[in-house]
Amino acid sequence: MKDYIIFLAQSHPQFRKAELESLADLYNIKADFSQHNKEHPFLVVQLENDEEAYNLIDRAILSRGIYELWGHGVTIDELHENVQKNMGKYIDKYIEDTTFKFENLTFQGGKKSREEQIKMYERFAYLAFKGKIKMKNPDEVFTILENYSLGKDLFPLEHPNHLWFGRQINISARSRGVVEKYDIKKRPYFGTTSFDAELSLLTGNIGQVKKNELIYDPFVGTGSFLVTAAEFGGITIGSDIEFLTLKGKGPKRRLKDNFDYYKKPLQFTDVLCMDFTNNAFRNNLKFGSIICDPPYGVREGVKVCGTTDDKLGRENIVIDGELAYLRRDYIQPKKTYSLDLLLDDLLEFSSERLDIGSRLCFWMPVANDEDIPTLIPQHKDFELIYELVQDFHKWSRRLLVYVKRGEGFNGVTVKSDDREGTNNFRDRYFHKFSEKSKVVK
Ligand SMILES: C[S@@+](CC[C@H](N)C(=O)[O-])C[C@H]1O[C@@H](n2cnc3c(N)ncnc32)[C@H](O)[C@@H]1O
Repeated sequence: MKDYIIFLAQSHPQFRKAELESLADLYNIKADFSQHNKEHPFLVVQLENDEEAYNLIDRAILSRGIYELWGHGVTIDELHENVQKNMGKYIDKYIEDTTFKFENLTFQGGKKSREEQIKMYERFAYLAFKGKIKMKNPDEVFTILENYSLGKDLFPLEHPNHLWFGRQINISARSRGVVEKYDIKKRPYFGTTSFDAELSLLTGNIGQVKKNELIYDPFVGTGSFLVTAAEFGGITIGSDIEFLTLKGKGPKRRLKDNFDYYKKPLQFTDVLCMDFTNNAFRNNLKFGSIICDPPYGVREGVKVCGTTDDKLGRENIVIDGELAYLRRDYIQPKKTYSLDLLLDDLLEFSSERLDIGSRLCFWMPVANDEDIPTLIPQHKDFELIYELVQDFHKWSRRLLVYVKRGEGFNGVTVKSDDREGTNNFRDRYFHKFSEKSKVVK
């Protein structure tokens, strides 16, 4: 095993460990991330080899890069002593033909002048690399990483509190600009329900979207999770009850156009206008992962096909000799449904459509205004492996991640009846989270 250092992004730090663990599991990498600290953007891990390090970080969203660790210290002198002690293990393979450059990355550090940088790099002259320096596409990049604390005035202190030196193994999808690439506003088609690009990509990683596997979003809306799943090689399919959402905003501004824009048209299978609770997929169709953002009932209602009025939907209206409600162009009446019941349906459906080891990931809103324990939906076939919280002031959004387990696994069952009254998000949202809510079903 060798030491590697990961430079993490200081964005959504509460999701970082889950992403690393999910990517390690995806690539069959055994690694211990228990030293991860949400406050700290550097993490040392032991891995078998560079290939593992490369794969672990390649599609990461909340990491920036990974480096073979040659040495570290709390001062620059200590760093050099440590590198000189360890360099014998690494240095021999850098022959005359190996081009290289140095770089300096800091957390919270101020910008150094060119002269300061050169002075910093020249102190590593004892490494005595035989090859030439090449600024563009060198064979190797050697990186000095520095962690600075901020002073009382919120400016970085003059000296870093820790330094590391290493050889760059890979930079992440984030560092290659994937979050900006999927920025919602750059897409031909987006809407009020479109899900943040960074978190959609992250959901694809935690949901373990795999190349060439079928990824289903049952509440697809404008397709945020599908287009980012395609970035990781997923073949995508979605459904939504709202025809107008699927239809888009006119020529070149439809859901499918986003896939053309990102040059991934073959990874878009289709979207179906369908009520998820009356699902029309053939019974034995399986998915690689199911990832979604169910309707919260705030911007878009929780609706299902059906009616509370017995007379509706079976009217004796005949068009061209056919009963209207039996025609292909018949538009079903819809009735309001509850998010709690919809989540029960989602777990039940997923238990039938995912293979053992596959993941179901969805975002669930939770009101945190009252001291009521929040009960998370659970199904006997699934292990709930993460409950990751994104906190807003009076409510939070949780990313719930489940793995389908095999025979012999007897998980907990928590259905909507058990959760009654605990998470009536819609009701509380419209009552500004203040009054005790009554359950609307
Ligand atoms: C929170 S939005 C999803 C937004 C989506 N992630 C995006 O990026 O635009 C939930 C979607 O679920 C749809 N929906 C509501 N009830 C549904 C049902 N019974 N079956 C399928 N879709 C439904 C809504 O029309 C809405 O588009």
